[in-house]
Amino acid sequence: MSKQIGVLAMYMNGRRLEELSFFRKLCVSGEKLGVEVLVFTPDDVHENGTRIHTLTYKASERRWVRKWSGFPQVIYDRCRYHGIDNFRKISQFRKKYTKLRYLSKPLANKWTMHQLLSEHPGIAPHLPATLRYKNTKELGEFLKKHAIVFMKPKSGTGGRGIIRLQRLPGANACLMQGRDSDRRIISARKVTVEQIPARLAGWKLGERYIVQQGIPLELKDGRVHDFRMLVQKDGQGQWRVTGCAGRIGPRQSVTSNLHGGGSAISMESLLRSRFGSGKKVSDIRKEAYDLGIRIAHHLEAKFGPFCEAGLDLAVDPRGHVWLLEVNPKPSREVFSRIGEKETYRRAISRPLEYGLWLIRQKQSESS
Ligand SMILES: Nc1ncnc2c1ncn2[C@@H]1O[C@H](COP(=O)(O)OP(=O)(O)O)[C@@H](O)[C@H]1O
Ligand SMILES: [Mg+2]
Repeated sequence: MSKQIGVLAMYMNGRRLEELSFFRKLCVSGEKLGVEVLVFTPDDVHENGTRIHTLTYKASERRWVRKWSGFPQVIYDRCRYHGIDNFRKISQFRKKYTKLRYLSKPLANKWTMHQLLSEHPGIAPHLPATLRYKNTKELGEFLKKHAIVFMKPKSGTGGRGIIRLQRLPGANACLMQGRDSDRRIISARKVTVEQIPARLAGWKLGERYIVQQGIPLELKDGRVHDFRMLVQKDGQGQWRVTGCAGRIGPRQSVTSNLHGGGSAISMESLLRSRFGSGKKVSDIRKEAYDLGIRIAHHLEAKFGPFCEAGLDLAVDPRGHVWLLEVNPKPSREVFSRIGEKETYRRAISRPLEYGLWLIRQKQSESS
């Protein structure tokens, strides 16, 4: 039987697929590994529920081919949240086809994630203090403890709706700046803590927001930075750190997300520019890598097996490593941007290698 891995995707507007160029690379990588990669959306399943109209890229012919196929044994779900209708389609699909083996799964929102990760004594010291937003009184207290505070929507992505508060000397005043829900920059302004809910009217702070200790991440030129680490299962089902890269936000931005105009730089050069070229850099790197693996194992114990996660990490001026966020459906473009070709190649092939390993496991179980 030929081996197949399905990529579950979503049509954006009309018939355009969001990550088409990634899917093309998956198909090419699959061809080399001896597995056929079939891209489809819930709309492509035949009404009788047994066949799918899939797309696959033929490297030798340099073109996409559409054809009817059976259900692949393993499914790589790449659907990100794009509105409630798409979300429903995907969850209905996953509910209907429970027998398929999924490589990725929805994890948890930022607040639940914080609580789950706090349970692990080896992870807790790496989590910034975090609360749910309640009122300005608690926010004011929190700002007394932490000179920088971030407010983030618990289900936000891509740096949307993020506010940074910096304590100013004097009565309850702080400097507020950030990004709105369309990722537009909100430039710095001085506010009192009591003014914040009115300034952010309509943001549903109480229902949607977490409040988090801010890690000082400004570089000498005033831009902020952090790191994106990709942890993945390999072809033997073992967790590995595939790579880690630095990201530097554009001027006036409190977030470093690439989609918000951030630029990418190798982890090594960014750490060296801050900590010199000595042992400190290799110690930080090791701490970050060990933490990444620990987080992957802990999440797997909580959620069951999955193939990868993108971790947003911060390194404070003392060299301590912090976890800012876990992304269940990470992109891997950052490695291509910094020219780490081998890391990028691996970042694409590993989910397929892990999928193949699962297929082989299943075959040996049933034989
Ligand atoms: N606690 C924090 N301290 C410093 N910077 C932060 C903090 N939380 C978020 N950031 C900045 O904001 C960016 C986006 O935050 P993140 O939690 O990753 O949310 P999103 O899901 O929108 O990417 C981070 O990559 C980082 O640049
Ligand atoms: Mg992030």
